[in-house]
Amino acid sequence: MPTEVWLPRVWRAGEFASIRVHSWLSMKSAFQWGTRIAGGLASRWRNLWYRALGVRIEGYCWLRRIEIARNWHDITLEADVALDMGVVLITGGPPRVDKIRIGTGTYVNRYTIFDGHERLHVGRRCMIGPHCYITDADHRKRLGLTVQEQPMKSAPVIIEDGAWLGAHVIVLPGVRIGRGAVIAAGSVVNKDIPDNAIAAGMPARVVRMRTADQD
Ligand SMILES: CC(C)(COP(=O)(O)OP(=O)(O)OC[C@H]1O[C@@H](n2cnc3c(N)ncnc32)[C@H](O)[C@@H]1OP(=O)(O)O)[C@@H](O)C(=O)NCCC(=O)NCCS
Repeated sequence: MPTEVWLPRVWRAGEFASIRVHSWLSMKSAFQWGTRIAGGLASRWRNLWYRALGVRIEGYCWLRRIEIARNWHDITLEADVALDMGVVLITGGPPRVDKIRIGTGTYVNRYTIFDGHERLHVGRRCMIGPHCYITDADHRKRLGLTVQEQPMKSAPVIIEDGAWLGAHVIVLPGVRIGRGAVIAAGSVVNKDIPDNAIAAGMPARVVRMRTADQD
């Protein structure tokens, strides 16, 4: 009977296909798990490496491929800081403990640069967007000398707990960004921003305050 012969063939073909799909899926998930495990091991290795160089790491931090090229003793990372791919921490000037300090639970998104010369502190549980540039130093620009010939001047930058900086935010020297403040994408912050304010623009101005019923 043709149907009886024909049906099992289809079933067998289906089973074979399903075994192939299953083994492909399990290989794929094994590969994904392998990648995650390798990422975790690399992060642990970076914790050891930067600790050995002198960075003060106060508990395990999640570190992707970041750059800390020199002056390692100037930098402190509290526990549970997460620095994503391409984050750069640079310090200049005389050595100083805690020149750059990033608070516990803070996440820094891809390709953000911290350039600290005096005191650049980020609080706890902040979110810093991708491609931000945060500095506490400026070049002097007195006429008669090139900018390159003049020493730098600096003023501390403080980003308080729970602040959120969107993508491409620039923070200039001497600024305090208040607790829980939100800085809109692409803003340039050159003045203090109060606690829980939402600031936007170039230069950043307070556009509203956060409220309990906002999304
Ligand atoms: C600030 C932000 C959170 C919106 O907050 P909001 O309270 O909903 O603010 P609104 O969208 O109502 O905008 C309020 C005012 O700010 C202005 N504004 C909002 N975002 C702005 C920006 N990025 N640049 C300039 N002005 C901005 C609006 O035009 C509006 O101005 P108006 O009152 O004159 O019309 C959002 O615009 C933003 O920038 N998010 C960041 C996203 C990001 O970078 N994500 C990366 C992942 S970390």
